[in-house]
Amino acid sequence: MPAYNKKNVEDIDVKGKKVLVRCDFNVPLKDGVITSDKRIVEALPTIKYLLGQNAAVILCSHMGKPKGQVNPKYSLAPVAARLTELLGQTVELAADVTGPDAKAKAAALRPGQAMLLENVRFDAREEKNDPTFARELADMAEIFVNDAFGTAHRAHASTAGVADYLPAVCGYLIEKEITIMGKALENPARPFVAVLGGAKVSDKIGVINNLIEKVDTLIIGGGMAYTFFRAQGSSVGSSICEEDKLDLARDMLKKAKDKGVNFLLPVDNMIGREYKEDTVRMRIYSDAIPDGWMGLDIGPVSQELFSKSIIGAGTVVWNGPMGVSEWAPFAAGTEAVAKAVAESGAVSIIGGGDSAAAVEKLGYADRMTHVSTGGGASLEFLEGLELPGIACLQDK
Ligand code: 3PG
Repeated sequence: MPAYNKKNVEDIDVKGKKVLVRCDFNVPLKDGVITSDKRIVEALPTIKYLLGQNAAVILCSHMGKPKGQVNPKYSLAPVAARLTELLGQTVELAADVTGPDAKAKAAALRPGQAMLLENVRFDAREEKNDPTFARELADMAEIFVNDAFGTAHRAHASTAGVADYLPAVCGYLIEKEITIMGKALENPARPFVAVLGGAKVSDKIGVINNLIEKVDTLIIGGGMAYTFFRAQGSSVGSSICEEDKLDLARDMLKKAKDKGVNFLLPVDNMIGREYKEDTVRMRIYSDAIPDGWMGLDIGPVSQELFSKSIIGAGTVVWNGPMGVSEWAPFAAGTEAVAKAVAESGAVSIIGGGDSAAAVEKLGYADRMTHVSTGGGASLEFLEGLELPGIACLQDK
């Protein structure tokens, strides 16, 4: 894992300067209304610090995947409105990204004021990390601050390319994310327990491989458990199962055994006839799923088994749901894990995405040591991969 020691906003003179700040304001929206402002709130310490230093703050972010086209559905207008409320001062939204309106507004921005550029992905050059686009962004400012942890795994113009043209440092959010997660991986309080869920082994291969070297217990739930069941010769019915990953699953089981890692799989399951919320369902007391049925959540005995391990942990890292947690009849496994992590007293780190959403929905977020703002980014960090949005920043 790369050990980052990057300069932050306090290591560079920002007083009275124009500062371009990349945030991850890719927040969930329903009918144009923000349903969780966590990512905006988590960016406030950096923004407030810069405003307090009388910097002129030019914020930028992506939202969704508009594929290089201007699309009002993905406008950052709701974010500008929420920032205005949270900061108690107007945050004007430019009508474009590096076009005439953005340039004019950035040029007119006074010390202590903040503005927001329109969605950087409205320009097709963003995701190509096009140097001319990076240059246009850089030309509006004197310093670049990256605080978009959730997008740090992308080598895009506004996350990495712009660092070629401006002095580049990290904000408080990126610093917090990499410090807490880095410590958990490198110097964990033991026992160190990792709980991994989600549908596919293929999405988590890198994480499993990296964590198996470090943890005392590895708990696997969610759809990917069925690939492990099958690899051990159990029947999986019509459960999601990656036939081409069976050898890999066997290798991982062997590796865990060789290293003395306690590898826990579900021992009972909630199964359904079809992949739908109101399907006929039942509980089976084994890891053999009958034909015509599919596993959709872990059962109560597994919940207890997993919870016991989690409660005895010194450090817990959790990424991925235990079942189809967005459907109430199959949410119990994920809820039980969330509760155990909250009550464990362990250093608890929740990788972003579905597990972070579950923890927030259940009201446990405040009881976790750290709920990451990154989904893909936290996974890549846990895999030990270099994150281009961080690697490009100045070292201390
Ligand atoms: C996320 O939501 O994980 C980040 O904002 C990155 O989004 P992306 O997967 O569209 O790059």
